[in-house]
Formats: sequence, C-alpha cells, structure tokens
Amino acid sequence: MEIGKIYNENCLITMQNMPDNYIDFVITSPPYDGIRNYNGYQFEFEKIAKELFRIIKSGGVIIWIVADATIDGSETGTSFKQALFFKEIGFRLHDTMIYYKNNPMPQTGNRYHQHFEYMFAFSKGSPKTFNPLTEPTKYQGLANMKNRGQNGSLDYEKVERTKEKKVGNVFFYSIGGGISTKDKIAYNHPAIFPEKLVADQINTWTNTADLIYDPFMGSGTTAKIAHLLNRKWIGSEISKEYVDIANERLKEYAFTKIYTTN
Ligand SMILES: C[S@@+](CC[C@H](N)C(=O)[O-])C[C@H]1O[C@@H](n2cnc3c(N)ncnc32)[C@H](O)[C@@H]1O
Repeated sequence: MEIGKIYNENCLITMQNMPDNYIDFVITSPPYDGIRNYNGYQFEFEKIAKELFRIIKSGGVIIWIVADATIDGSETGTSFKQALFFKEIGFRLHDTMIYYKNNPMPQTGNRYHQHFEYMFAFSKGSPKTFNPLTEPTKYQGLANMKNRGQNGSLDYEKVERTKEKKVGNVFFYSIGGGISTKDKIAYNHPAIFPEKLVADQINTWTNTADLIYDPFMGSGTTAKIAHLLNRKWIGSEISKEYVDIANERLKEYAFTKIYTTN
C-alpha cells in the first residue's frame, strides 16, 4: 500500500488490498441514512464493518461519527443499529462519546435543536493507547482525607489534590465557515469534520508514526491532521470531485514524506 495517499475508490476495494491487523486507528464519518447525497454514492455498511475488523490491529480503535435522519416522523436509530453490529462482529463498544455542536443549524418543529452526533469508540480488544485529554481540576491544593483506623478511630490526613483530570466524554466544538477549518477549499464538501475534533481523537488513541485510515476521506481533514501530528495515514474517497478537493487542500502541506509498507 502507498502511505500518504487518498485512494479514489470504494473503501471496500482499498481494504481488500490491506493485510490483516494493519491499521492502528480509524476515524471516520460514513454517509448515513442518505442525509446527504454525496454525488450519489452509497455504502455497504456490514461488509465495511467486517473489513474494518480484519484490517485493524489488536488494540486498535475506530472512531465512528454518526447521527440519525428523521424519516416518517421518527429518528431511524441507524446509529445504534450500527453500534450493535460492530459489537456483534467482535469489536468492543468501548465508549459512546458525544460530538456536541455549539452552534448547530436551528430546527423548526416540535423537537429541541439537534446539537450532537454520536462518536462511538469501538476497539479490537482493550485499546493499546490512551493518552487522555485533561483539564485543570476546580479545587487545587491540600484536601482533608478521612482515614478510619482498624479500631474504628477516625483521623485526618492532608493530601495534595491532582491539578489535572481527564475530560468528560462530551466534546464541544464550534463549527462552520472559517471555524471548522481555515482552508476555504474544504467547504466545497458538504460535511467536513472540525479539525480540532480529529486532532483530539488522534492524540488520544495514537502515538507518533502510527498508521491511521479514513475510509470516507471527504475533503481530507483526517489526512491533514494526521500529517500535522506526525502520524502516517491512508484514505479512501469514492468521489473524484472530493479527492481533487482534498488533494488541493493537502498540497500546501508538502507531502515529501511518502512511507511505503509491505
Ligand atoms: C461524511 S463525508 C466525510 C467527510 C470528511 N470527514 C471530511 O472532513 O471532509 C462521507 C464521504 O464518504 C464518501 N463515500 C461514500 N461512499 C463511499 C465508499 N463506499 N467508499 C469511499 N468513500 C465513500 C462520500 O463521497 C463522502 O465524501
């Protein structure tokens, strides 16, 4: 396989050319529920999920970002069905995280505004890498800790509180023109990731030089951020128009480093 390349083809074909246990980490957003017509392409979910299981390494993680369409007055539940299918074929549903949009498109009707998408973390066994994002703790300095002795007596001990703690599993991002990315060309694609979201997930689940795959590369966000964070990457994108957009976007990052494996 050529590393640092977006294959302009169905991701099933790209994966068929990968050996077993090849990829460290996947982050992607599939074309769900026909919400958008990405130049008319469809995808075969179950076959793709099984191929993902085959090509990901033991301990590898997939971040699968999806939401449901509302059809005939009901949310489809596709996100949950997909999550349960991943479980059925051997993945662990490691964490159901939320991608919270601070500024979504407002909606009319008798529902609250749709602020989030699911950000499922599926793992093949226990995740081999976890570098959690942290935030400062609210209370710092010394705290009184109660200790009960064997005879039942209580005494107090001063303990230094930790200064940082893991963040929660709801991730907040502002989105839209000039915010999701500064690359104007990316907005020719209808559904781009915020770059910060991709960076947060790559930093959490991978280490430098790990190999990342995005089977639905769209405008190339995963490729750009993987490159900037010094990870190797491969992508698939079925639409020639989007591959051209992504390659144009990536040009300025001077892909001099082309790794080749196998
Ligand atoms: C939600 S978009 C991904 C957007 C991307 N995360 C970004 O930041 O630009 C899904 C993409 O999957 C592509 N696609 C649909 N079916 C595909 C398939 N079978 N193989 C590869 N790409 C496919 C669509 O053309 C679309 O660009």
